[in-house]
Amino acid sequence: MVREAVGRFAGKTALVTGGASGIGRECCVALAREGAAVVVADLDAKGGEATAERLRQGGAESTFVPMDVTRADTVEAAFAAAAEWKGPLQVVCHAAGVESTGTVADVDAAEWDRAIAVNLTGTYHVGRSAVAALGAAGGGSLVNVGSLYGTVGTRNMAAYCASKGGVMMLTRAMALDHAAQKVRVNAVCPGPVRTPMLGRIFTGLRGHGVGVSDSGMNDIPMGRMASPADVAAAVLYLASSDSGHVTGTSLPVDGGASCM
Ligand SMILES: NC(=O)c1ccc[n+]([C@@H]2O[C@H](COP(=O)([O-])OP(=O)(O)OC[C@H]3O[C@@H](n4cnc5c(N)ncnc54)[C@H](O)[C@@H]3O)[C@@H](O)[C@H]2O)c1
Repeated sequence: MVREAVGRFAGKTALVTGGASGIGRECCVALAREGAAVVVADLDAKGGEATAERLRQGGAESTFVPMDVTRADTVEAAFAAAAEWKGPLQVVCHAAGVESTGTVADVDAAEWDRAIAVNLTGTYHVGRSAVAALGAAGGGSLVNVGSLYGTVGTRNMAAYCASKGGVMMLTRAMALDHAAQKVRVNAVCPGPVRTPMLGRIFTGLRGHGVGVSDSGMNDIPMGRMASPADVAAAVLYLASSDSGHVTGTSLPVDGGASCM
């Protein structure tokens, strides 16, 4: 990672959930490259510490804080630790999430509860702390990582689709409720992205007897999957003042898949 001397986030502090892996980790790298001090938050302490160390090696300021998004106490403690580390937050990127495969016939109540607890209730917990922190700082930007499958849906991922559909509507509701505090709330909605989660989704679908191609590109008009960097670029647009009058939107990053 090479840090730009002056970036869109110079002098700003960002907290990224899910920063240990995949899209969240790429968002940490991109924010740091553009000058942000980055608080890496995740359930996975080893991976989260490794991301923070990578950013520090690249010349950025970064620290890891443990967070389980399903538990309000850990989310609140992580935001408190971030404030103690660097003062007010200007950006929160919420990328922590889990996959869930199967139809409602396949998914038992425990699996349903897990998907909703992490993906939807986790967005509530993080959103609650984020609007408080960003509002106290005089304004800021919260970017949730939703999904193409929260907009158009897909087969054999019922709980995941429901959880991500909820994330999109919660994004809009928070945008309305907190606009007066100058807190903008937006989401990105990626199609398939090459991360560890995608491999687990393919394995899960095959476990339910669903054939999937390894390329996963069959239904992507632009003919390729998104990279984590594609998603991070969209997150940074929504996190930055470039999108200063944009709130409540769910931005597809799906190579055109949601147009079909
Ligand atoms: N990979 C895709 O194809 C894809 C597509 C659309 C949306 N998304 C969404 O992007 C986000 C990031 O996914 P990814 O592909 O980078 O996956 P990933 O598995 O690489 O990363 C997810 C991260 O979230 C963390 N996490 C999981 N549960 C947590 C919890 N309870 N508390 C705190 N952290 C927790 C994990 O430790 C991990 O670091 C997720 O919300 C996912 O639903 C992914």
